[in-house]
Amino acid sequence: MKNKQLIIFDTTLRDGEQSPGAAMTKEEKIRIARQLEKLGVNIIEAGFAAASPGDFDAIYSVAGVIKNSTVCSLARASENDVRRAGEAIQPAMQHAQKNGRIHTFIATSKIHMENKLRMTPDQVVERAVQAVKWALEYTDDVEFSAEDAVRSDMDFLVRVFDAVIQAGATTINVPDTVGYSIPALWGERMQQLIARVPDSDKVIWSTHCHNDLGMAVANSLAAVMGGARQVECTINGLGERAGNASLEEIVMAVKTRRDVFNLETRIDTTQIVPTSKMVSSITGYPVQPNKAIVGANAFAHESGIHQDGVLKHRETYEIMRAEDVGWNANKLTLGKLSGRNAFRSRLGELGITLDGEEALNTVFARFKDLADKKSEIFDEDLQALVSDEFVSNTPELFKLVYLQVCSQTGEIPHAIVTITESGSEKRAEADGGGPVDASFKAIESIVNSGAELQLYSVNNITSGTDAQGEVTVRLSKGGRIVNGQGADTDIVIASVKAYLNALNRLYSKMERAHPQI
Ligand code: KIV
Ligand code: ZN
Repeated sequence: MKNKQLIIFDTTLRDGEQSPGAAMTKEEKIRIARQLEKLGVNIIEAGFAAASPGDFDAIYSVAGVIKNSTVCSLARASENDVRRAGEAIQPAMQHAQKNGRIHTFIATSKIHMENKLRMTPDQVVERAVQAVKWALEYTDDVEFSAEDAVRSDMDFLVRVFDAVIQAGATTINVPDTVGYSIPALWGERMQQLIARVPDSDKVIWSTHCHNDLGMAVANSLAAVMGGARQVECTINGLGERAGNASLEEIVMAVKTRRDVFNLETRIDTTQIVPTSKMVSSITGYPVQPNKAIVGANAFAHESGIHQDGVLKHRETYEIMRAEDVGWNANKLTLGKLSGRNAFRSRLGELGITLDGEEALNTVFARFKDLADKKSEIFDEDLQALVSDEFVSNTPELFKLVYLQVCSQTGEIPHAIVTITESGSEKRAEADGGGPVDASFKAIESIVNSGAELQLYSVNNITSGTDAQGEVTVRLSKGGRIVNGQGADTDIVIASVKAYLNALNRLYSKMERAHPQI
């Protein structure tokens, strides 16, 4: 890899998945992984193999289908974790490029070593070296991370990194696990580590920053200026707590300010917005309208002075072009009269492959249904339809059969709902503060889940009043948090679909261990 290359390591499927309720199924991970490959990321961290048999299976499947990006599994520095990671990336090791990586880590700060690991510094060094050696039994591509590097003693970091490089690690990652650093200090820390660690020129230096103080991107870029050549980041900045550095911001900063960074990535930036939308719809994490690059307003000029300037000369107020990051790429796709073949081929162009003719028939029927309600069908509509299809990979314990809502000025909103529970039909009705509230209360009177509604949000998928509304519902119960999504041109129906989807997830078994505990 030339030194002018900045490696983009995407951890949406691992650190991103650690966001509350963002746990993904295998099929969802495969879909996102295919899109990340299309986007051109160098490395896809597909999960944490030891977390659960489901996560192992997801990494194994992603490793089987992805050829143009390296597929990586996270592993704590324990023999079981590393061996599970090694087994999970095996399909990638069968490809000609042997594109499988193991990413092992152990905490190096005093506070973590004493209170969490209850290990001495000597034991930590020994374990880190051993973990790298176990990993090398499976692949030559081994990354080591010093968790909580931000609060670790510099001399100790130098010692650990020296030891793991001598053991054979090829990438050294310096994480700001708790989002504590500030750019000037983080850049300096990277620079000093590279200067002090023996053989530092034999490895790639990487950074992984969390956003607790809103500086993950700034800190990552400072590390790049300090010599890092890999950045770990996520789509839409998803991730543990306040999230990770956002991939789209890192990539566009490096591209737009090439005069400062003088680095290249291999990202196809026109795939940024489609990837953002896919991740948002699968995880149920909406993108705030004023979010840089991928927010709905990122390229909207509201003030008259700005609009006038942009019309006269675009660069007066625009430093990037919307189309370069994939805005406006939403082609008018298909209409009411489009046939099955045109439909299948457009899905193919969008990188969507459905499992078998039956799945295609179901989605095609939904498409025809939608085309009856909405004259123009865009790529985003198709993505939502397919999301729906994949959503139904969650066992459908509860299914919507019928919904009637009455919402009238001066009257209390009322809903009548019929759903199936494990195949048998149940009907209920309820009043509520609005039609959505009434519908949810009616469903709850059947299901009695006792779950707490943590989030309810509606986004329009495309523009216009006939657009599909995409609803996200977050439920929590007994420490478990799930997100459900539903899309429809009728937002009350979309809401009910989302609520039932969340309940289906709540009642399905998707347990995972947390890697950093
Ligand atoms: O934040 C962190 O330290 C991590 C490591 C596992 C890299 O996610
Ligand atoms: Zn992290």
